[in-house]
Amino acid sequence: MPETKQRDVQVFLINTDTTVVRSRTWDRLKFEIEYALQRGTTANSYVIRGDKIALFDPPGESFTEVFLEALQARFDLKSIDYVILGHVNPNRGFTLKTLLELAPQITFVCSNPGAIALRSILPDQELDIKVVRGEETLDLGQGHRLEFALTPSPRWPAAICTYDPQTAILFTDKLFGSHICGNQVMDEGWTIYSEDRRYYFDCLMAPHARQVEKALDKLDAFPAKIYATGHGPLVRYGLLHLTNSYREWSKQQKTQELTVALLYASAYGNTGTLAQAIARGITKAGVAVECLNCEAAEPEEIQTVVEKADGFIMGSPTLGGHAPTQIQTALGIVLSTATKTKLAGAFGSFGWSGEAIDLIESKFRDAGYQLGFETIRVKFKPTEVTLQYCEEAGTDFAQALKKAKKARTSRKTVSESQAARTEQAVGRLIGSLCIVTTKQGELSGAMLADWVAQAT
Ligand SMILES: Cc1cc2nc3c(=O)[nH]c(=O)nc-3n(C[C@H](O)[C@H](O)[C@H](O)COP(=O)(O)O)c2cc1C
Repeated sequence: MPETKQRDVQVFLINTDTTVVRSRTWDRLKFEIEYALQRGTTANSYVIRGDKIALFDPPGESFTEVFLEALQARFDLKSIDYVILGHVNPNRGFTLKTLLELAPQITFVCSNPGAIALRSILPDQELDIKVVRGEETLDLGQGHRLEFALTPSPRWPAAICTYDPQTAILFTDKLFGSHICGNQVMDEGWTIYSEDRRYYFDCLMAPHARQVEKALDKLDAFPAKIYATGHGPLVRYGLLHLTNSYREWSKQQKTQELTVALLYASAYGNTGTLAQAIARGITKAGVAVECLNCEAAEPEEIQTVVEKADGFIMGSPTLGGHAPTQIQTALGIVLSTATKTKLAGAFGSFGWSGEAIDLIESKFRDAGYQLGFETIRVKFKPTEVTLQYCEEAGTDFAQALKKAKKARTSRKTVSESQAARTEQAVGRLIGSLCIVTTKQGELSGAMLADWVAQAT
């Protein structure tokens, strides 16, 4: 049994002017797919002290108290000039609100989507916001002239990375992180983190590999010596290797034979969490996923992604008895774009009536699409069990796509060539069908798999 320790905050000076403040949990923080390795996590915040002081990425609600206590013990909160947000989500609202009560002089620094999200999360606050668009710099003095890169993705449309040329530290927020808690601040002996880093990439980055590649291109401009990540140990010793791995893993996604378009919207994050679990199940089975957040995607982008994909899955929350407008628009594009041979799927989180999920499912059925899994309806926040179910549904969807492709290929092979009878028979074989069972703690699962092969 792993030792259960209290949540705490580790403060460490990375260099003369830069401090990392790591809010640590030794247990699994949330029931989200990326925490499934159950090795705890850290929410890393940073402080740069120039003539002006900037605080990066205060943690979510589960750490508000311990974080602010640790921060106050070392810094006068009233002297903080900027709070730089690598992403904005509702979970951060409580910490930011409490911080504002203690330090009302703060100016937030974030992207334009970040500013919109921040205003909706803190509707009753007077907010001083400096919006960055990628070209400007923020001079903190003492050589800390910060540069920015916009790195949006479907899960974090407001994402920015910040570079400090004085220290060659790149604040990467969600990129290059890992969910692992420990005393090590840097990644000396970094190969011990390889599995965690790969898992983190597979869960969080693989479904939007295209945007990861764009981000990597932008970050190339910064000669960073340290990646100050939002989670897990900071990347110093394994920096080059991890950067190359991100390139390679993203490329692998693009070269998969089959792709699924996963379109969703999520006002409070629940449908987004389901989407992430379904995506993980699909990529695990060797099929690529292209995630699109309908709130941020352009209609042309939706059309292109759906056209190219072999299957499509749509997820929506129900708000006021309806699907959000962006989902209704995306649904129209999907229905007019996707050929009837494509496999479809529907899911969503709801509170009491769930009309949006019914709408998506009925439109898909009426249009004649075959569904790759039974429609997933989850009340409010998903549990560990529902997420496991979603992951398995994703894998089933991927298997169904592969099977359909194999069947198409073998039919083609047999009809096009006058192959020998034995070869024809082999061509018709779709492979063995196995039941793979798993058990971890209270959780157990089983799924049909056609990708099991004998090793020797
Ligand atoms: C303003 C508001 C309106 C809602 N209306 C409905 C509704 O009409 N029917 C329903 O089943 N759930 C309703 N819900 C519950 C949401 O669907 C539920 O909270 C869901 O988990 C949100 O998913 P999301 O986190 O992906 O945005 C409503 C929630 C809010 C905040």
